[in-house]
Amino acid sequence: MKMKNLFVASTALSIAALPVLADPQAEVLHWWTSGSEAKSVAVLQEEFAERGGTWTDMPVAGGGGDAAMTALRARVLSGNAPTAVQLKGPAIQEWYEEGVLADISDVAEQQGWADVLPDQLAEHMKCDGHWCAAPVNVHRVNWIWANKAILDQNGVEMPTTWEEFNAASDKLQEAGITPLAHGGQSWQDATLFEAVVLGHGAEFYQSALIDLDPEALDSETMVEVFDEMRTLRGYVDDNFSGRDWNLATAMVMNGEAAFQIMGDWAKGEFLAAGKVPGEDFLCGATPGDGYLYNVDSFAMFDVGGDEDKVAGQNLLAELIVGPSFQETFNLNKGSIPVRSDVSLDDFDMCAHISAEDMAKDAASGSLLPSYAHGMALRGEPAGAITDVVTAHFNSDMSSQDAVQMLTEAVANAM
Ligand code: GAL
Repeated sequence: MKMKNLFVASTALSIAALPVLADPQAEVLHWWTSGSEAKSVAVLQEEFAERGGTWTDMPVAGGGGDAAMTALRARVLSGNAPTAVQLKGPAIQEWYEEGVLADISDVAEQQGWADVLPDQLAEHMKCDGHWCAAPVNVHRVNWIWANKAILDQNGVEMPTTWEEFNAASDKLQEAGITPLAHGGQSWQDATLFEAVVLGHGAEFYQSALIDLDPEALDSETMVEVFDEMRTLRGYVDDNFSGRDWNLATAMVMNGEAAFQIMGDWAKGEFLAAGKVPGEDFLCGATPGDGYLYNVDSFAMFDVGGDEDKVAGQNLLAELIVGPSFQETFNLNKGSIPVRSDVSLDDFDMCAHISAEDMAKDAASGSLLPSYAHGMALRGEPAGAITDVVTAHFNSDMSSQDAVQMLTEAVANAM
């Protein structure tokens, strides 16, 4: 009897002490609009709704997120920032310096993020020592995807050096096959370029595209990089200009081209179409040692104390790094979980290669941030490099001229 009374008393006390419950709301800006991307982000929408959240979707089409970032700038300038934004790499810290990002350290600490996220990747999520973004995944950028039947029919192996890549492509081209599916958008050109830079050594990549060392930029090695870019240009079909990345992936899938050099969001498209790695398509790291990572993340924008939106931000942050979302989302997206404690049992062979290489490259110092996907550099130098890469790819500019232009453009952007 005494016990019962006590129980009633404490229940009454805790109900009285409960704050008025907020109604989690979030307007979410992202650029996940291809088939597999939309399927992936739907996982977050569903989990958010199951927990009582109201999601307002703000998708901005355009691979790589350039258009989304333009839309974001317009929204922030008009004083009406979205609640949560797909944002990554140094752009997170750039927005933080503008004073518009929310601190999500409370959620991060409650959920023990520091214990489950690799240190190198967690650093990208911090602003002045506190948590300001929630990481979703690890995409590897430097992959070659191939149509297995085309390679088999033409006696071509998956290339492991750029020489082999060129020899295989020459052979395929002679057989009337487009060797390289590519979309002529500047971020896709940059994706090829950084893979070729990495192919000249992880140290060279570090000096040229992370440290922006003028000696690496203005080097014979960089001339060789642009030579290879010119060679790759020769393997692309005539209609490549402006093509979306997922349409290039579809060319490989449908046997209209042999290879695509693209991050493993391309694998998301193969999987969504029911294709099986090792049977229908092949994955292999681009030539050279190293792993270029691209960690998608969401930052929360300051909502001026609006309780429903703050509740939406906290719920989103919790779900994004939560183990169930990390598994389901990444199975659809082509990436691997950023949490180190999620089982990869249900993941495919390419995801296993990704996880093994990531561990190996982390140990040898060649786990490197992707410049093309906004992980390595701030906006200005990254944009300056991409402008040169695209200008070279779309003209008959010599490699020497490209190197000179690159060196000057980077110097001006620093
Ligand atoms: C990347 C992004 C990936 C993928 C890709 C194509 O920048 O990190 O998640 O969506 O763009 O849009």
